[in-house]
Amino acid sequence: MPPLELSAEEFDALAAQVIDVASEIVRSLDQRRTIPSTSGAETAAAFDLAAPQQGVRAAVVADFEAITAHARASTGRLFPYVVGSGEPVAALGDFLASILNQNVTAWRSAPSAVTVEKTVVRWLAEAIGCSGFSGNLTSGGSLANLMALAMAREAHAPANDAGARPCLVYASEEVHMSIPKAVALLGIGRDHLRLIETDDAFRIKTDALEEAIASDRAHGLRPAAIVASAGTITTGAVDPLSRLAEIARENELWLHVDGAYGAPAAMVEPARFNGLEHADSISLDAHKWLYQPLDCSLLLYRDPAIARTTFAYTGDYAKTLSEDPVEGFAFFEESVELSRRFRALKLWLSLRYHGLATFRAAIEENLRLARLLAHLVEQEPSLELLAPVELSAVCFRWTNDSEDTLNTRNAEILHRTAARGNVALSHAIVRGHFGLRACIVNHRTTEDDVHAIVHEVLSAAQAP
Ligand SMILES: Cc1ncc(COP(=O)(O)O)c(C=O)c1O
Repeated sequence: MPPLELSAEEFDALAAQVIDVASEIVRSLDQRRTIPSTSGAETAAAFDLAAPQQGVRAAVVADFEAITAHARASTGRLFPYVVGSGEPVAALGDFLASILNQNVTAWRSAPSAVTVEKTVVRWLAEAIGCSGFSGNLTSGGSLANLMALAMAREAHAPANDAGARPCLVYASEEVHMSIPKAVALLGIGRDHLRLIETDDAFRIKTDALEEAIASDRAHGLRPAAIVASAGTITTGAVDPLSRLAEIARENELWLHVDGAYGAPAAMVEPARFNGLEHADSISLDAHKWLYQPLDCSLLLYRDPAIARTTFAYTGDYAKTLSEDPVEGFAFFEESVELSRRFRALKLWLSLRYHGLATFRAAIEENLRLARLLAHLVEQEPSLELLAPVELSAVCFRWTNDSEDTLNTRNAEILHRTAARGNVALSHAIVRGHFGLRACIVNHRTTEDDVHAIVHEVLSAAQAP
């Protein structure tokens, strides 16, 4: 037998053990701490080991159990940043995708996988009201945003051959950090990202945007793209997409909608996302609010020709020999990535298993629970909301101290809440105030879990 090959019996036994461990994790989630009690020294002692020259065979399963013990658990009380909850049918899909090990470069290499991915992209585009968009799955919203802005640049200030030329990108000051990162990487430069102020609801001020575009034009500069946020990272604000689409059209600019966090909510509250269908590109992270295990993000674009202008640069050895529109299709001509994992399988299995109606119900429930949390915060005299709750991100703070100590006090409360381990929150800086933030994009969260947030924060605040 080849050196690395397993006998069928050995694989069966190992797989059975793995399934037992996985089942135990899923069964016991509710009893687990959400944040493990561990330290840097403990994780280094446990895992910073010498490379194994000889294998331990099936004892390796115990390693996974140790890794689990030092990991955050996907309980219904996991609310930091924008972290999906790892829907288990999709998790099995990830396992099966690795067993099948398709390289989803082009139809000729992975006929079923390519077709499954194109179908899943179509389902999701239709589900958010963007029928007719093309797209592909990427590792995350950061890559989707980078690829979207690469298309915007190629459409409005072509750079692929001659190199980057000065151009401008506009977004609100609440935009996610992946956008400044993308403009830096694309050679547009962070100085050429205009961060426009926001209104009381943290939405971009469109009059300020129009003034900035006009002023830049008057100075002979070249505006290229607007990035709208459909669910800002901090407060979940949705920019006025219809108005932004008009401004983009009037000024002949690319409109990218960063819906990495919020776009799935267009499935249940389409009116809030009016105008999404006029975007040139949209990012939507399925590993956030479609509950998929990492990694799985969707990049949609209106015009696949621009994707190909931006990304197709095919070596002779990779040129497709088929004239057939299905069999000649290559994702690598519309993406940064060449070798690509079969991310679509988990989405296919999870969407087919539950149906889109169940996903809509889960998102609706998260929205309801976020409103419940906002209500509980408003009822509690020592807490206050820091921002309106538009989607499922709730920013709040403890107020029972003098204003000049509140930032430090809330940072300490966050730290103590994490040390208690029951609920995982993140922090939010809202107009200079340090606050606590719970973002509910979790299919396991119940009303009890939402009550636990308030209970844990008050307990941490009142502890001696
Ligand atoms: C609005 C927004 N855009 C982009 C991203 C980046 O996504 P990823 O972490 O998948 O790269 C995030 C992540 O939280 C986000 O909330």
